[in-house]
Amino acid sequence: MSVKDKNIVIGVCGSIAAYKIASLIRILIKEGANVQVIMTPDAKEFITPLTLATLSKNPVLSTYFDKIDGTWTNHVELGLKADLLLLAPLTANTLGKMANGICDNLLLATYLSAKCPVFFAPAMDLDMWIHPATQNNVARLISYGNILIAPGKGELASGLFGEGRLAEPEEICDKLVVHFTLDKPLKGKKALVTAGPTYEAIDPVRFIGNHSSGKMGYAIANRLQELGASVTLVSGPTQLQTPVSVHRENVTSAEEMLQMTNKYFFESDIIVMSAAVADYTPIEVATQKIKKKEQDFQIALKKTTDILASLGPLKKSNQTLVGFALETNDELDNAKGKLTRKNLDYIVLNSMQDQGAGFAVDTNKITVISKSGSLTNFDLKSKKDVANDICTIILNHQQTL
Ligand code: CTP
Repeated sequence: MSVKDKNIVIGVCGSIAAYKIASLIRILIKEGANVQVIMTPDAKEFITPLTLATLSKNPVLSTYFDKIDGTWTNHVELGLKADLLLLAPLTANTLGKMANGICDNLLLATYLSAKCPVFFAPAMDLDMWIHPATQNNVARLISYGNILIAPGKGELASGLFGEGRLAEPEEICDKLVVHFTLDKPLKGKKALVTAGPTYEAIDPVRFIGNHSSGKMGYAIANRLQELGASVTLVSGPTQLQTPVSVHRENVTSAEEMLQMTNKYFFESDIIVMSAAVADYTPIEVATQKIKKKEQDFQIALKKTTDILASLGPLKKSNQTLVGFALETNDELDNAKGKLTRKNLDYIVLNSMQDQGAGFAVDTNKITVISKSGSLTNFDLKSKKDVANDICTIILNHQQTL
């Protein structure tokens, strides 16, 4: 695979390196890509829209609407249609705006609406590049799942020598080709991941919840997507950004999570249930805020449906079903019990006794137990690396089915 027939949107910012984009567009068009250029207002000072429109064989976009004929440019559609959005050259200014969600031109609106992978190739003077503000903004973009094409070292337009030069057009093109060519071993497979906590309403303002951040499940959804699967993420309330190209369904309660999970279960090849689902929910939800009265107060609870246990018996031979177990004691025995009871292929055990494992932290330490009883212990790692380990196990399992 190459960039052939791919819809590539290139966002050009006001940097002297904008001249290099003319060559990049020529290369991409030669390789068969469809290129749509969006320029920031300042970019037009460095290279003319006519040059880029002629090379890309498409009118260049820059404003939301045409003042003369009133045509409106739909940034949401642009972002949705694109297979890839590349920002090159990306100035410190637009980089900072992207990192902070500022949206004061068409390019930034397209960036915020884009569901596709986003590559960014900064270009600026070396002191601007190494400034902590810039570096923090770069780190933020990376944390949103955007992919950095790092600037090179060399002579800069200022006459200074150092890091900050826009990567060469051939190098940028190679990165895009590699992206589209990457081995996607789960291509054609559908995955369902549950993540985050559930909130069980007590009255209109209160709920019973838990400390799950959803980070582990989001990292798994992201990795499965990178491996080529088409991923649905059923998420309880979290503060997290939806991973690139993942379809997210928001739910609040255990009951809603059950309904949404059932909707996607049968069509899914891979099901990973990492959500921390409430085991109990109030029998009655007060319609009005409960007033404080007596010294003691009790809420009557009933069991929720164990979603994973309800799905286990329905599992088909093409499906890989993975559950999680968070234990404080008798970890292995408890986890093995859940594996058998819920008819899982794998259970991922987190022990609250392990430092750095559990809720809200960015690391995790897991043991994966398979249906056949084999145990794999992993070291303490970032949740991203743990997600890679879990997904490698899933991939291997899928390849044996
Ligand atoms: N789970 C679920 N539905 C529930 C409760 C749990 O689908 N109502 C799933 C979780 O997503 C997880 C697994 O079951 O993958 C284990 O959850 P955990 O809370 O550790 O275990 P429980 O089976 O609820 O047992 P216990 O709370 O008694 O340890």
